[in-house]
Amino acid sequence: MSITIRTLQKRKQDGGKFSVLTAYDACFSRLISEAGVEAILVGDSLGNVIQGQTSTVPVTLQQMVYHTECVARGNQGSLIIADIPFMGAATLERTLEAATALMQAGANMVKLEGSAWLADAIEILNRNGIPVCAHLGLTPQAVNSLGGYRVQGKDDDGAAELLDAARILDQAGAALFVLECVPRALSAEITRQVAAPVIGIGAAPECDGQVLVMHDMLGISPGKPARFVRDFMADTGDMRAAFKAYDAAVKDGSFPADEHCF
Ligand code: KIV
Repeated sequence: MSITIRTLQKRKQDGGKFSVLTAYDACFSRLISEAGVEAILVGDSLGNVIQGQTSTVPVTLQQMVYHTECVARGNQGSLIIADIPFMGAATLERTLEAATALMQAGANMVKLEGSAWLADAIEILNRNGIPVCAHLGLTPQAVNSLGGYRVQGKDDDGAAELLDAARILDQAGAALFVLECVPRALSAEITRQVAAPVIGIGAAPECDGQVLVMHDMLGISPGKPARFVRDFMADTGDMRAAFKAYDAAVKDGSFPADEHCF
């Protein structure tokens, strides 16, 4: 059975959890969806893990379209979310062009990084039948403005701004949220206050869903893993088992644990 946005909304209403992983090709898309993971994110993190770049800034729309097509071919019923890459929200025209291309490549939803200023884009995309996942907190495409990959919303002003942005975008019709590197208490509060399901990464177990970059949770990304990452392949050395263990840990609430939160 295929997962839709309604499946995730119902999960939130019922107090259940759902899991999300990134994938960039048909083979991993198949394995991840067969493991029961509800949504696959074709993330622009492909810039880091596929291309070996130091940020997501160089990733182009053409590359996102290619990887979305690959993921769609292998997918066995998970919801596919595709990232609108760097500068894709700079003008409404660019956003509409990117969203059209990604939906036609096989995405079920697009993800936009930003803040309250995404409201207009979300409304226009919704009117045209395109659900939007709003990515708040640490938005990696803005790494140069943020001055590094840092936890967001740590002080009172930053926390109030993030909560406001989430409320505004919820009102504007965001279908999902991603909260990245946001303190646990604030993440839990945002999850309570918005109607749309919230997916955490370096956020809180109270979020409705969790996402990790596939290479990180397999323990095969180079360098020191981020605090919010757990290596799910360490126990068995088996990828299929790792995807299932991740899905189970998200659903039983054992991931993320305290040590993965800020
Ligand atoms: O690009 C990506 O993989 C992401 C996740 C880190 C949420 O945006």
